[in-house]
Amino acid sequence: MPDSVRKSLTHEEILHWLRETDPNRLAHLWREANTVRQESVGGDVHLRGLVEFSNHCVRLCAYCGLRAANGGVRRYRMSADEILACARAAVRLGYGTVVLQSGEDPRTTADWMADVVRRIKRETDLAVTLSLGERSEDELAQWREAGADRYLLRFETSNRVLFDRIHPPRPGQHSDRLALLGVLRRLGYEVGSGVMIGIPGQTFDDLARDIELFARLDLDMIGVGPYLAHPGTPLAEQATQPVVETDDQVPADELTTYKVIALTRLICPKANIPATTALATINTATGRELGLERGANVIMPNLTPPEYRVDYEIYPNKACLSETADTCGRCVARRIESIGRTIGTGRGDSPNYDPSRREPA
Ligand code: SAM
Ligand code: SF4
Ligand code: FES
Repeated sequence: MPDSVRKSLTHEEILHWLRETDPNRLAHLWREANTVRQESVGGDVHLRGLVEFSNHCVRLCAYCGLRAANGGVRRYRMSADEILACARAAVRLGYGTVVLQSGEDPRTTADWMADVVRRIKRETDLAVTLSLGERSEDELAQWREAGADRYLLRFETSNRVLFDRIHPPRPGQHSDRLALLGVLRRLGYEVGSGVMIGIPGQTFDDLARDIELFARLDLDMIGVGPYLAHPGTPLAEQATQPVVETDDQVPADELTTYKVIALTRLICPKANIPATTALATINTATGRELGLERGANVIMPNLTPPEYRVDYEIYPNKACLSETADTCGRCVARRIESIGRTIGTGRGDSPNYDPSRREPA
């Protein structure tokens, strides 16, 4: 590998790094990603308070514990007042953003959601990020008008055949997350997406293409985390029957996650990149810290009330499961300080976001 990896990486170079095992060469990649992070987005770590407000979902994603067919889930839906209480907790804990996330829940109507967004914007200075799955253009436009700032929708994998296998569309409809990312951008949202790492059937070549697609989509936020098998899902069962050559299959492990974070930072220098909960789940001790030292600049502490949090089981043993908003907030602050980084103040908008570059609506 050349001295500096800080340049536009070719497909072959990305592939090479994804397969790299030499600790000395990898140390070089971590250093480069950390330097680019410092130069492009600075030392601040922005905190986004996550509110998992409904675990009802009509979809049948083969990977997710919340899928409609999983009868083992106790379903809940938080009230608008409960969500507002979480937003107030976010302000009290010094976070600049709330992320409202849910399954694809038809009972979350466009009017109800718009009202929740308006109430948060009226009462607080928080940025509001939504992550409600695939919703119609009209709904997305209504929420943007109500004041929502950002939207997260992972494309999960750029391999369309694999995507179709693990993400069946709603009956009679076509699932096109890339098209929806275009809609979000036109509507003026800060746009976030990402992938799971180590999906059964995902090859190194697929993962290299995912990273290249992040750059082509010019994403403002990029979230990546390991795929974690949930025993109540079809994909967990399929994992025992490999669908690609063992040597081609991406491992769903910690090291590969750091490589993807680092490479993503190199090719999308100004994006906001979280050290995700899935990463913290496979390394509770230092996963978040190592993610932050290898390219990430965001953490999403959980604000969901503990009585609901346990039932938002997209995969088992999720990090911070039995914590409260306050203990999680204090823990995250300690972790950030322990690696010599500072907690960001204000909303922490993506330096990549430039409204003038958005296509007119
Ligand atoms: N329903 C919305 C959606 O699908 O975009 C938002 C909630 S969904 C639980 C958020 C993300 O969780 C998905 O985009 C997916 O990448 C991730 N996820 C789901 N199941 C997972 C699993 N078994 N392992 C790791 N990540 C998972
Ligand atoms: Fe529903 Fe999202 Fe889980 Fe798919 S990933 S089943 S859309 S919550
Ligand atoms: Fe949530 Fe430590 S980060 S409890």
